[in-house]
Amino acid sequence: MIRFEQVDIAYDGKLAVPNLSITIEDGEFFTLLGPSGCGKSTILRCLAGFVPVIKGRILLAGRDISRLEAEKRGVGIVFQNYALFPHLTVAENVAFGLRASGTSKAEVAGQVADMLERTGISEHANKRPAELSGGQQQRVAIARSLIMGPRIMLMDEPLSNLDVKLRVSMRNEIKRLQRQLGFTTIYVTHDQEEALSLSDRIAVLNKGEVEQIGTPEAIYNRPETEFVCHFIGEANRLTPAMLGEIRADGGDGPAFVRPEYMSIDDGAPNTYRITATVADTVFLGNLIRYRMQAVDGHFDLIRSGAAEKLTVGSQHVVCFPHHALLRPAGRA
Ligand SMILES: Nc1ncnc2c1ncn2[C@@H]1O[C@H](COP(=O)(O)OP(=O)(O)O)[C@@H](O)[C@H]1O
Ligand SMILES: [Mg+2]
Repeated sequence: MIRFEQVDIAYDGKLAVPNLSITIEDGEFFTLLGPSGCGKSTILRCLAGFVPVIKGRILLAGRDISRLEAEKRGVGIVFQNYALFPHLTVAENVAFGLRASGTSKAEVAGQVADMLERTGISEHANKRPAELSGGQQQRVAIARSLIMGPRIMLMDEPLSNLDVKLRVSMRNEIKRLQRQLGFTTIYVTHDQEEALSLSDRIAVLNKGEVEQIGTPEAIYNRPETEFVCHFIGEANRLTPAMLGEIRADGGDGPAFVRPEYMSIDDGAPNTYRITATVADTVFLGNLIRYRMQAVDGHFDLIRSGAAEKLTVGSQHVVCFPHHALLRPAGRA
C-alpha cells in the first residue's frame, strides 16, 4: 500500500531521516515509535506532502507520489494540537473539507451527522471547540479527517494532550474506528504502551533510523538491538559476574532479562539462577519493585503486590527461564 524506498528527508540541507525503507500493508495499523526528535513527525509530514523527498521515492498503491501535491495524495492527518477552527462549531469544523470540495449542502449535512454519530460527539454539534474537553476536541479532529474518506490516516501523537484515563479510552475508540472503517493508519507516538496495544506492526526509530520493525510481540519478546531492548519495556543488563553465575551457554555480547521474568527460585527446571540481596523496595500498589544487589551490579525484580514481601537486606536466589534471556544481536 505505502512504500518508502530509500528516502532521504532533510531540513535546510541537514538530514533528519536518512535512507528510510518501510512497507505498510493495506488496512494495517502501523506505528512509528521512538523518542522525541527521532524523526517520526518528519516521516508523517513527508508522506502527507508537507516536507519534500530529497532522495528515493514514496509509492502509494504502486504509484510514485513523491512529487505530488499534498491535497492530491488522499491522505488524512490528525495533529497533536488538533488544529480545529475556533470560530466554527463542531459540525462546521467537520463539514469544512467537504464544503471546500464542492459537495452539496444536503449531502454534507447527512455525512456530518453520520460522522458525528460514529465518533460519539453528536450532542456537541453546535458547540465551539473552546467549549469542549480535550477528548471531545480530539474526536472532532478525527471526525473532520475521516469524513474526507481517506484511505490512509496519519496520526501524530493524537492522544498526548489527554490525561491517562481518557488516553486509554480514546485509544480504544481509534482502534474501533479503524477496524470499522478499514483505513490504513500510520500512527506516531513516543508511548510504548500505546504502540504495543494499538498496532499490527511497529517500527522503532532511533535518530532517524529504523532499529526494528515487527509485531508488538516480536518487538517486545525478541528485541534485535540494545536500543529496542531498553526503549520498549524494561531490561536488566546482566553483568559479567551474573553471566558467570548463570553459565548461559553460547552467545556473547550483552545479555538482558525483563524484570517480570525474574522470580525467587523455587527449583523450577530450565532456569538460570543469580544470588542477590534486596537493596531497596518501591511500592507501586499492584506491584512491588525490588532493587537487587548482586556481586558486581544490580537488577530489578518485580513481584505482585499480593506476594509475600521481601525484606531489605535479605538474600535470595533469583531465577528466570532460559527463554527469557535476551541477546540482541545488533543491527545487520
Ligand atoms: N521544521 C524544521 N526545521 C528544521 N529542523 C527540524 C524541523 N522539524 C524537525 N526538525 C528536526 O528534525 C529532527 C526530527 O524531528 P521530528 O520529526 O519532529 O521528531 P519527532 O516527531 O520524532 O519528535 C529533529 O532533529 C528536529 O530538530
Ligand atoms: Mg513529533
